[in-house]
Amino acid sequence: MQKIKVKIPASPAASYTIAIGSNFLHTVLAQIKKLFPEKQLFLITDGNVAKTKNLKALLGKENIPKFVITPAGEKSKNIKTVIKIIETMEKQAFGRDTAVIALGGGTVGDMAGFVAAIYKRGVDVVQIPTTTVAQADSAIGGKTGVDSLISKNAFGSFKNPSAVFIDVSTLKTLNEKQFNAGLVESIKHALIADEKYFDFLKKNLNDILARKSKPLEYIAMKNCKIKASVIEEDPFEKNKRRSLNYGHTIGHAVESASNYKFLHGQSVAIGIIAANIIEQKLGLGGKERLEELKDIFEKLKINLEIPKSITKKQILDIISRDKKAVQKWPRFVLLEKTGKVLYRDGQYAHKVERNIVEETIDILINQ
Ligand SMILES: NC(=O)c1ccc[n+]([C@@H]2O[C@H](COP(=O)([O-])OP(=O)(O)OC[C@H]3O[C@@H](n4cnc5c(N)ncnc54)[C@H](O)[C@@H]3O)[C@@H](O)[C@H]2O)c1
Ligand SMILES: [Zn+2]
Repeated sequence: MQKIKVKIPASPAASYTIAIGSNFLHTVLAQIKKLFPEKQLFLITDGNVAKTKNLKALLGKENIPKFVITPAGEKSKNIKTVIKIIETMEKQAFGRDTAVIALGGGTVGDMAGFVAAIYKRGVDVVQIPTTTVAQADSAIGGKTGVDSLISKNAFGSFKNPSAVFIDVSTLKTLNEKQFNAGLVESIKHALIADEKYFDFLKKNLNDILARKSKPLEYIAMKNCKIKASVIEEDPFEKNKRRSLNYGHTIGHAVESASNYKFLHGQSVAIGIIAANIIEQKLGLGGKERLEELKDIFEKLKINLEIPKSITKKQILDIISRDKKAVQKWPRFVLLEKTGKVLYRDGQYAHKVERNIVEETIDILINQ
């Protein structure tokens, strides 16, 4: 038997630029063409975004080949839609010289990113996020994918965008519920990384809710900086990136137990409250912060109540099947203080005794 070793050179360090501002969407297509003069552009958006002035602002008088995902939202975030998009691109003879443009929220961005990751073994993707979730979270970091019938993001890949354009004016057309729930990821970023940013969010909440450009640009910038600094250190979620999952262990469980009737942001808000209760039970403090968070979520009109149809057993079952569980018990990201994640024994996520988790769920259910 002979053996041949094939050396795979480490991929060269990649980087991309995130442009942040307001009312500049009408200049973005020209910027993309300048960045990729040789590329064929293919736009992916969804039925709701296509109806807003954002699509018109992006395209101006131009028309580029596109796929409009209908219905919009999670219902379409599956492999069938991916196949439809890919076959549309194939029929129009798009090659490896393609740059996919994603205009929309996280569902569009995740799907377009996944299409770009697998189309002809990979083409460029440019993200133009239009929701608070996508601008704070999904458009940056390179996680892409679609859901299976059994679980979320079952098909997926890491695919970093080649460029990101965040125009906060696109948020003007977003409905209030989506807008507010998406802000929970900003609150999460502040909690895990930057106490001053948390103070900013508290103080400027009314202006943010009034969708004023300046605070929205500021929070977009903060979110990107915080997320970028975490993923630069740990692009493939080996350790530090897990801190971005703050509030997500119980959050995901509640979201899943609600059959995705709860918005992600609403579920994460509940998960953040849960993490704060656990922190207090473990003697990490944060009593004042818990009150502040409840106050913020109230201003965001986020319902923190868990309906009677969701049981403690259900939540425990789901968390024990968490992707990141060890011996069927999840690890929790916890705060040492506002703006600082607890880092202990070389880990950013920790085992919490079952009785503490159970008591916390009891408090959540009975609040
Ligand atoms: N890849 C990641 O790192 C990451 C991170 C967080 C969330 N996600 C994923 O993101 C998805 C959720 O994203 P989302 O909350 O943006 O949902 P979404 O993309 O479904 O958008 C929410 C709704 O708002 C509409 N919409 C979007 N932009 C609009 C605008 N400017 N004006 C009017 N309507 C608009 C959409 O059509 C949709 O109906 C989930 O699938 C989640 O798994 C991914
Ligand atoms: Zn999230």
